[in-house]
Amino acid sequence: MIYSQITGTGSCLPDNCVTNKDLEKIVDTSDVWIRERTGIEQRYIAPKGVNTCDLAHGAAIHAMESAGVTTRDIDLIIVATTTADRVFPSTACLLQSRLDIHGCPAFDVQAVCTGFIYALDVADKFIRSGTSKCALIVGAETFSRILNWEDRTTCVLFGDGAGAVVLQANEEPGIYSSHLHADGDYVDYLHVPCGVSNNYQAIIDGTAYVEMKGSEVFKMAVRMMGAVVDEALEANDMVRSDIDWLIPHQANIRILSATAKKLDLPMERVVATVAQHGNTSAASIPLALDTAVRDGRVQPGQTLLLEGFGGGFTWGAVLLRF
Ligand code: UT7
Repeated sequence: MIYSQITGTGSCLPDNCVTNKDLEKIVDTSDVWIRERTGIEQRYIAPKGVNTCDLAHGAAIHAMESAGVTTRDIDLIIVATTTADRVFPSTACLLQSRLDIHGCPAFDVQAVCTGFIYALDVADKFIRSGTSKCALIVGAETFSRILNWEDRTTCVLFGDGAGAVVLQANEEPGIYSSHLHADGDYVDYLHVPCGVSNNYQAIIDGTAYVEMKGSEVFKMAVRMMGAVVDEALEANDMVRSDIDWLIPHQANIRILSATAKKLDLPMERVVATVAQHGNTSAASIPLALDTAVRDGRVQPGQTLLLEGFGGGFTWGAVLLRF
């Protein structure tokens, strides 16, 4: 039996750190409101000229170094992103070229904030089927590019960044199971209401912005994140106390706490990086994972539950032995 195992993690943030106090100067908000309602203290914003592929590249290099593999070992590249550098080709192809890798499949996955969970599951299936032995999976975003900096209900929430993992074939798990979901009935709750085929002019004009029904999204996020954790545990005959670390999508500390409470998990077993990074969409889970690996919280052999929720709605979880 072939399983897939995460053998290296990496991340990359732009240099430009923007605090809540900085935002007070450009929009009608306050440090106190942002901290109390979201837990966010700062976020990183990519300057002009630094694009999603640049951040993906930085994270990929770190992940390959930490796995002890080289670009010659990589036989699959998947990038989860909502903020691709180009309409086409994919950011994965741009990254492939930047890494001087040639010939292996490379493609993007779009599931907004659940994108990394979707990408990890796709890569796991490539590895389990024997098609790939060493995959590079990246979640990377420059979400700041689709923010309306005059809309305080959204612009204070998001940030830019990238996280990556190397996933390799192994005789032992690795990934135990993945659980992906979507319900397109909720497309209007969290979206950018235009695209290439629909009102392209807004993209040209630079007014293609994120719109969100915040409190509705909040309620669904808590409900679905809780449900998918139970689904993953049940599928593996595990109980909540078997989880060493819950590594959720980082949207709001109150969502993380509510999910933990629902699961009877102390916050000490939840990796929370939302204070430092804000919501980095598809990058948030691998960024949080890499942070906890590098500071020594996550150790080899531990059981991790990664879970995401985002636009679509999409949601999902991956249960794995690190
Ligand atoms: O990544 C994908 C998933 N995304 C999420 O999970 C996000 C989910 N939603 C949330 O995290 C929260 O709903 C928000 C953080 C977006 C909003 O928090 P909330 O507690 O639901 O606040 P609210 O939208 O009910 O707004 C409360 C008040 C409003 O004022 P009034 O109408 O009560 O006078 C807002 O206008 O807070 C006001 N407000 C702000 N005030 C200062 C909204 N944004 C801000 C702001 N600064 N940035």
